[in-house]
Amino acid sequence: DRTELAEACRTLRVGREVSDGRVGLALVPTMGALHEGHRSLVRLARERADRVAVSIFVNPLQFGPGEDYSRYPRTFDADLEVCAAEGVDVVFAPAAEDLYLPDRQVGVTAGTMGTIVEGASRPGHFDGMLTVVLKLFNLVRPDAAVFGRKDAQQLALIRRMVLDLDLPIEIVGAPTVREADGLALSSRNRYLSAEERRSALALSRALFAGAEQPTPAEVRRAARAVLDAEPGVALDYLVLVDPATFTEVPDDHAGEAVLAVAAKAGTTRLIDNVVLTLG
Ligand code: PAJ
Repeated sequence: DRTELAEACRTLRVGREVSDGRVGLALVPTMGALHEGHRSLVRLARERADRVAVSIFVNPLQFGPGEDYSRYPRTFDADLEVCAAEGVDVVFAPAAEDLYLPDRQVGVTAGTMGTIVEGASRPGHFDGMLTVVLKLFNLVRPDAAVFGRKDAQQLALIRRMVLDLDLPIEIVGAPTVREADGLALSSRNRYLSAEERRSALALSRALFAGAEQPTPAEVRRAARAVLDAEPGVALDYLVLVDPATFTEVPDDHAGEAVLAVAAKAGTTRLIDNVVLTLG
């Protein structure tokens, strides 16, 4: 429960500044169904901090009415084995009833950035995501927290929350882990049939094709062409945006940009992105 968690984390935080420049405690928030992408976050957390906490919680607040909350993969025993194998110091896996009071009122709002791109397709998703992440930060009180760049808008919003709400937590972004053929690892990949998985490869193929182009217009056109040629995926969005604000970059943009895609293969919704440097 949360009293035990607070006690365990207090013990782990002792000696906050470790002599080699690492911090005391790093948190890796997850929804479980842990895969190699999650493991890479844990390893990065371990490089940054003396102790590592992992949270496993399928957060009902960040799922919309028609989404996959009830059938989201839950593999708790296997997840615990992964955490043990990675030398995780604390696993926090609360029940929804223990995390959310039945009469709860107050939550975090993501602002305009929560209503665009991924937020336009998933109303309320980012409010629910930020609310649980803030709760996890307050319960675990880590010095640092690690998030994957796979969920680029999520990472941008968490950085925004840390700035806007003055949270004393260092946010570490981790590279996207992919299968050898390019498919970004995701807990939802297990829903894909063999044929859908083949179609899903169009997402990363489109991003890699776009990333080779010199200008925003050509990036968008090249990526779009790959997706248009794959009838097995239904495109939701393809955008080239500023990494911090997720607004579309202008045609004369110089510097970093995120090329982000969301599409369905069968009934499974997938997202992916790459960071590129223009100009
Ligand atoms: P979940 O989808 O389980 O992802 C947990 C963390 O793993 C996120 O930071 C995500 O970006 C990262 N991750 C997922 N796939 C990855 C990959 N292929 N390579 C690198 N990192 C990857 O994201 C969530 O859970 C939730 O929204 C959460 C932050 C836990 C709040 O509920």
